[in-house]
Amino acid sequence: MNQNNDRTTKLDDALQSSKLRNDPRVAQAKQLLADAVTEHASSLQVGPAPDNLKDSFADWIDRLTAVRGAPPIWPYLSSGIGRGPYVELADGSVKLDFIGGIGVHGAGHSDLGMLNASIDAALEDTIMQGNLQQNPASVVMMEKLLALATESESALKHCLLTTSGAMANENALKIAMHAAAPADRVIAFRNAFAGRSLAMAAITDRPAYRQGLPLSVAVDYLPFRDLTDPEGSQKLAVKELHQLLQRHPGRYAALWAEPIAGEGGYYPGSHEFFAALCQPLRDHGVPIIFDEVQSFSRTTRPFAFQHYELDQFADIVTIGKVTQVCATLYSEKMKPTGPILSQTFTGSTGSIATGIEMLNRLESHQCFGTDGANAANSQHFQAGLAALSERHPDKISGPFGEGMMVVFTPGDGSFDDTKACMMRMFDVGLLGFVCGGSPTRIRFLPPPAITTKEHIDHALALLEQAI
Ligand SMILES: Cc1ncc(COP(=O)(O)O)c(C=O)c1O
Repeated sequence: MNQNNDRTTKLDDALQSSKLRNDPRVAQAKQLLADAVTEHASSLQVGPAPDNLKDSFADWIDRLTAVRGAPPIWPYLSSGIGRGPYVELADGSVKLDFIGGIGVHGAGHSDLGMLNASIDAALEDTIMQGNLQQNPASVVMMEKLLALATESESALKHCLLTTSGAMANENALKIAMHAAAPADRVIAFRNAFAGRSLAMAAITDRPAYRQGLPLSVAVDYLPFRDLTDPEGSQKLAVKELHQLLQRHPGRYAALWAEPIAGEGGYYPGSHEFFAALCQPLRDHGVPIIFDEVQSFSRTTRPFAFQHYELDQFADIVTIGKVTQVCATLYSEKMKPTGPILSQTFTGSTGSIATGIEMLNRLESHQCFGTDGANAANSQHFQAGLAALSERHPDKISGPFGEGMMVVFTPGDGSFDDTKACMMRMFDVGLLGFVCGGSPTRIRFLPPPAITTKEHIDHALALLEQAI
C-alpha cells in the first residue's frame, strides 16, 4: 500500500480554519441543511410532468435553445433536487438517472455526503484552486489518486489536477510528446474518443467532430479488439502496429488507448489484447497513455488498466468525470524537464472536496474487488438485459458492456431506431444515452457509489415498459 495513506488529511487544530470547521454552529447548520434536503427529496418517485408546469418548462427549453443556438439533445433541465439515482426535472417529472451526466454523478443526486463536502468547500477562502495558490485538499486528492494507482504495480508517481477530461488529455499528450521528442505521431484505436479540444478532435475517430478544424496531430489508427473474434482481431492489430512502426520509425510519441472503448460503443479490451500491443511499443520506447476519463471507478479496480493487469505499461493515465476534478498521472520517467504544464485553475474548491468524498464513497460502498459492488451490479444488470433480450429478441441485443459501463443495442442499431428508443426511455422515466457508430447503442453509467440491485431492477422494468 502506498505510503501516502498514512499521511494526515487534516490541518492543525490550532489554525483558525480548523476552529471554523469544528465550530458547533457549522455542524448544526450542516444538520439543518441535510434535514431540509432529506425532507424535500423524500417524496420523489419516477413519474411524468404535471400539466400545469408544461408551459413554463417549454419556455425554459426555448430559452436554452436560443442561448445555445440549437435545441438540447433531450428536454433535460434539473430542478436542483434528487434522491440517489432519482432526479426531479424542472417540469416536475422524476427520472431514474442511469447516465449521470455521462458518468459524473457517481453518488447520484442530492447526496448528503457530497452536500457536506460542498459545504466544507464553501467555507474555504477561495472558490477556485490553481497551480500558484492551492489548499491542502488539492494535495490530499492527488495523493489519494496516486495511492489508488499504485495499489498494484504501476510506476505512476506524479499527478496534476485539471478542469476537464480534454485538458487532462492535453496535458497527457504534452507529457508524452515532450518525453519522446522529436517524435510527433500518435497511434490510437478506430472509434476512439478523447475529448473536444483541437488535439483531441484529431485523435478522436469521428470525422464529424473535426469538420472545418485543422489536423493538429498526425494520428494512425489500429483496429480495436473484436469480441466476436478476440484472437483474430488481436493478431490483426499487432500486424498493423508493426507495419506502422516500420512505416514511421522513431516517429511515434504515444499510444492512445481507452482500456474500454467508451463513446465508441462500450467494447471491452483485455489483458492479452493490450499486452500484445504494449510490449512492442515499450520495446520501441513509445509512451503509453491510458485514457480513463470514462472508465475510472467502473470495473473491479479503481482503474481499468488495473482491472486488465496492465500496470507495467501505464506511463501516463488520465481520469475525470466521476472524480469531479480531472487529473493526469504520470511516472517519474515521464516527468517533464521543462515548464510545459501549468494552469490558472486546477479545479474549484468544491470539485476537489467532493472528489475526495467520491473516492472515499467508492471505497465505503465496496465497489472494487472481484466480488465487489461493481462486479455484482454489472453481473445483475447484464443478466437482466440478457433476459429482456430473450423475451424481446428483435428489440434488445448484446454484448452488454464491462463493469458499470452497461450497454445494449436496440432494434437494428440504426441511429434513428436507437435515438427513438432513448427518447421512449426518457418519456417513461429512465435516462440512458447513445454511444457507438454502427451499431448505435444505448449505454448506462449507473452511479457506482450508491447503486443497488433494486435500482437496477427498476431500470430494467422501465426499459421493458419503454420497448
Ligand atoms: C474517454 C474520454 N476521454 C476524454 C473525454 C473528454 O472529457 P471532457 O468532456 O471532460 O473534456 C471523454 C468524455 O466523454 C471520454 O469519454
